[in-house]
Amino acid sequence: MAAPKIKNRKSRQKNILKFDYIHDHPPPYSQFYEHVSTPIVVISTEYDIEYFNEAAARFYGHLTKKSIGEKCYSKFKCTLHKTKETCPVTDVLNKAQSRDMRIANHLGMENCYVHAFPLLNSKGNIRSVVIEDFTKLSSATTQAEDLESRFSKTVELAVDAIFIVGENLIIEFANTYAVFMIGEPLEDIVGADFRNFFHDKKVNEFLEKTYRGEENCESICYYSEKSVIFGKKKLTTVEMFITRSEEMDRQVKIYTYLRDVTEEKKLQNNLKQSNEFLSNLINQSADGIIAADTEGNIIIFNESAEKLLGYTAREAMKNVHVTKIYPPGHAKELMSKLRSEDYGGIGKMSSVEIVAASKSGEEIPCNISAAIVYDKDGKEVASVGIFSDLRERKRMQKELEETHMKLLQSEKMSSLGKLAAGIAHEINNPLGGIVIFTNMMLEEMDESDPRREDIKRIISEAARCKNIVKGLLDFSRQTDSKMSVNDLNKIIAQTMVILENQAIFHNIKVIKNYDSALPLVKCDRIRISQAFLNMILNAVDAMGKKGEFTIRTSYNKKREMAVIEFTDTGCGIPEEIQNKIFDPFFSTKEVGKGTGLGLSMSYGIIKDHNGTINVKSRTGEGATFIIELPIIKE
Ligand SMILES: Nc1ncnc2c1ncn2[C@@H]1O[C@H](COP(=O)(O)OP(=O)(O)OP(=O)(O)O)[C@@H](O)[C@H]1O
Ligand SMILES: [Mg+2]
Repeated sequence: MAAPKIKNRKSRQKNILKFDYIHDHPPPYSQFYEHVSTPIVVISTEYDIEYFNEAAARFYGHLTKKSIGEKCYSKFKCTLHKTKETCPVTDVLNKAQSRDMRIANHLGMENCYVHAFPLLNSKGNIRSVVIEDFTKLSSATTQAEDLESRFSKTVELAVDAIFIVGENLIIEFANTYAVFMIGEPLEDIVGADFRNFFHDKKVNEFLEKTYRGEENCESICYYSEKSVIFGKKKLTTVEMFITRSEEMDRQVKIYTYLRDVTEEKKLQNNLKQSNEFLSNLINQSADGIIAADTEGNIIIFNESAEKLLGYTAREAMKNVHVTKIYPPGHAKELMSKLRSEDYGGIGKMSSVEIVAASKSGEEIPCNISAAIVYDKDGKEVASVGIFSDLRERKRMQKELEETHMKLLQSEKMSSLGKLAAGIAHEINNPLGGIVIFTNMMLEEMDESDPRREDIKRIISEAARCKNIVKGLLDFSRQTDSKMSVNDLNKIIAQTMVILENQAIFHNIKVIKNYDSALPLVKCDRIRISQAFLNMILNAVDAMGKKGEFTIRTSYNKKREMAVIEFTDTGCGIPEEIQNKIFDPFFSTKEVGKGTGLGLSMSYGIIKDHNGTINVKSRTGEGATFIIELPIIKE
C-alpha cells in the first residue's frame, strides 16, 4: 500500500517552531507531549531514543524505561534501513528537513506511518528528531478515503443518472451517466437548476413539491412519467426514485436516481405482445391443444380442446389428470410411442389416430400429433398434443361411401331396368299369343273335354306371367302413366282401408301420423298406390302378421319433397342384402311365396315420379322405408 498522504503539513511546520520554543523555554517539551494523543518519540542526533510519550509506549508496546538511550534503529526494526546510514532519521539529520516515512513496529511489520521532523535549538542547529506517528490517523483517513472512492466508483459505474440536488433545486452532484443522458458538459450541469433539464411541467411540479416536503419522500418514493424530454433525449417512460432529506443545517437535499426505462418497456411490450400472439395462436387454433407437465397436470387447454372434450380450461387445469382424456391405459401407450423412434423420431409423434375420452365419457376419434418438450439440459419438462376431431371427417367419409353405393345401385338398376324391359317386351307378345290361342282353344272345346283343366291352368299361369311382365315393365318404367294432382295422405288412407280389413292385419297395431299440411303431388294414383301396397305387404310379411306398423307423412320444406315413412317392427333387413332388395327377382321368401318383384316395381314407380326410395334397417330391429316425392311448386 502506498504511504498515505499526510495532510496539514503547513500546520505541522508551525509546530516545529512551537516545539523549539517549548524546548528553550521550560517547562520542557516532555510535559507538553505527555498530553498529546499522538505517539511521539524523540531521537537524538546520535540515534539514541531520548524520549517517548505515553501514547507511544501504548502504541508501540515494546518501549520501556530501558529503551531510553537505546539506538532507535535497533528498537524499530526497519527492514529496509538496517544501519544508521540508511536509516530515514539520517535523512532528516542530513537534510534538516521533515519527511514522512514508514517504519516497522515492534512486530517487525512495516505498517507505521510517521512524520519525522528536526527539532532545532536556539542556534538553529538540530538537537534531536521528533517522530510523530500518524498510523491511527492515517488509517482513519484511509478508511474514509476508501469509502469515498468506493462510493464514487459505484456511482460512476451506474447506468442510471444520479443527482444530488440542493437548495432551490440546484444540482450539486451528477454522475457520469447523468452527464451522458443530459448530453451537456458536467460544468453546465452542476450548479444548474434541476428543473431546466426536464421539459415537462408535471415532473417539475413534482420536484418542487418534493423540495417543499409535500410529497412525503422522506423514505424512498417512486415517480414515473411517460413521454418526457430530459436534456436532449426524448424518453418514452422515465422512472425516478427520490429521497428528500434535511441536513443538520436545515438544508434540503434531494437524492435522485433517474432511469430511462424506454428500452425496458419496449422489451416488456414486445415480450407481452409475443406472449399474447402465442397464446392467441394456441387459443384460436382449430385443433385442440393440450399440454401437461411431467406429473400429468394439464398446463395448456385451448378453446378447441374445450369444445372437443367438454371440460372448461379452468376445470381441466385444476381437476383433470392428463390420463383422463384417454381411454384407460392409452396415455401410457402414447407416451411410450412418443419416446420411441418409430413414430417420427424420439420425442415426436406425427399424426396417429386415437380415441379421446370426453367429459361425458364419449369416445371421440381424433388424430393426434404430439411432442415432448425438453429443457436446455435435455430433461423432459412437458408434453404437448394437438388433437384434430375426426368425427366430421368420418361422417363425411360414410356419406361419401353411401353416395357411392347409391350411385352403383342406380347404375345397376338402370342396366337391370333395360334388361328387364327387353325381356318384358319379348315375353309380352308371345304371352299375349298364348293367352289368346288358349282361350280360343277353350272356347272350341267340349264342356266334357278332360283337357279343359290343363288349358285353364295354362291360361292362369300365363296370367301370372303377364303380372310378372307388368312388374318388370313398372320397374323399368315402361308403363304409361296417368298423371294427376293427388293428396298422398288420401292415397295411403285408401290403400290402408282395403288392407286393414283383411285378416293379415288383425294382429297388427297401425299408427298413422299424417301431416295435414302435406302439399299435393302430381302422380299416377294407381301406380303410386301399387308401390305403397308392395311395401306395406312386405312389412306385414316381415312382422309375421304381428307387431306395430307406423305410417308417417311429412313435408321437407328445404328439399320441397313430400316424405312418406313406413316403419315396421319386423325381422329387419341384414346390412349385407340391403343393396340387393330393389333388384328384380331378389327375394328371401320361399319359392312360390315371393317373386322378388315387389320392391323393384316400387323402385321403378317412385323413380318414374322423380322421387327417391331408401331403407333404414338392422337385423332384428324392424325396418323403415322412406319415400320422397316432389311436391307441386306454386
Ligand atoms: N319390411 C321388410 N322387412 C324385412 N325384409 C324386407 C322388408 N321388405 C322387403 N324385405 C326383403 O326384401 C326382399 C325383396 O322384397 P320384394 O318385395 O322385392 O320381394 P318379395 O316380397 O320377396 O316378393 P314379392 O314382393 O315379389 O312377392 C324380401 O324378400 C325381403 O327379404
Ligand atoms: Mg314383396
